[in-house]
Amino acid sequence: MKKGILVTGGAGYIGSHTVRQLGEAGERIVVLDNLSKGFRDHVLYGDLIEGDTADQALVSRILADYDVDTVIHFAAHTIVPESVTDPLMYYRNNTCASRNLLECASEAGVKHFVFSSTAAVYGEPESGQCWEDTPTAPINPYGMSKLMTEHMLRDLGKASAMRHVILRYFNVAGSDPQGRIGQSTPGATLLMKVAAEQAMGKREALYIFGTDYPTPDGTGVRDYIHVEDLADAHLKALDYLRDGGESQTLNCGYGHGYSVREVLETVQKVHGKPLNIIETERRAGDPPTLIAGADKIREVLGWQPRYDDLEEIARSSLNWERKLTGQAS
Ligand code: UD1
Repeated sequence: MKKGILVTGGAGYIGSHTVRQLGEAGERIVVLDNLSKGFRDHVLYGDLIEGDTADQALVSRILADYDVDTVIHFAAHTIVPESVTDPLMYYRNNTCASRNLLECASEAGVKHFVFSSTAAVYGEPESGQCWEDTPTAPINPYGMSKLMTEHMLRDLGKASAMRHVILRYFNVAGSDPQGRIGQSTPGATLLMKVAAEQAMGKREALYIFGTDYPTPDGTGVRDYIHVEDLADAHLKALDYLRDGGESQTLNCGYGHGYSVREVLETVQKVHGKPLNIIETERRAGDPPTLIAGADKIREVLGWQPRYDDLEEIARSSLNWERKLTGQAS
């Protein structure tokens, strides 16, 4: 029997796309998700166990039952403003739960650990572009809660045989090109998702947060990565660790950015209709520009993006939103 892969948060947005790809690759998967944000029907492969990553008895049982040698850890809270108003919830769910999971994994002799980290660990980098050796300086509890787990992984790596790949995500968007799954989180805050919702009439209006940033058109610039490419980076990380690769920290982005205006223009072009856009004040805590230095992941994992195309990302986001609202295309 194949060794198992435990995917925490595998019913969520990025987790479910990764589970789908792992399933298509014939992996033996067990998903642990408390379904607070995830969806049962988004888990297309493997077994789904409803429960919490912090539940050590449950985690240890799963690791033993499925003979797990790899953990891919997505489960986390991810909303930056929420982390500012309720920091302890973020430290509990993102940092303490990760510690508990690591303890179980270490005791069970898990060999490989792939961790969902974030560009938020960089804070507000001066040049706007960040490489893996750019100093980390989170400006919110969300970024700090993830950075603390990065440190635990590195320390554990020195004290044990467990090797890891830390993936620092930039701005994920888009959905399964075949339309089976996508981002379904209610109350979403991400730009592409919000724009797709406005296009489908789920929102009255869409707000541009700040037009006076020191960027070419005054709006925030981000490195948008298609969820399919991001999911694929996890499979490449798995191959890399299985081949004996040493622990790594890697940015996940394309290495170039688009402004809010450029994103919205693209969504309107693909949708064929104008959006109702309102310009408003800056949102607290938003850096002007955040772009990945994206060479290392290509060199180390041999990762090659297939969907580095903003129109394609917008199209798949719109298609998924259309499906959610039951509108014909
Ligand atoms: C997202 C992630 C964060 C990650 C970061 C990496 C979430 C909830 N946030 O944050 O964890 O660290 O990417 O870059 O997963 N905007 C608008 N109007 C809107 C929404 C957004 O103008 O309605 C603007 C924002 O001001 C920003 C850009 O669009 O300039 C992107 O914002 P958003 O999609 O919310 O992502 P980030 O805040 O970058």
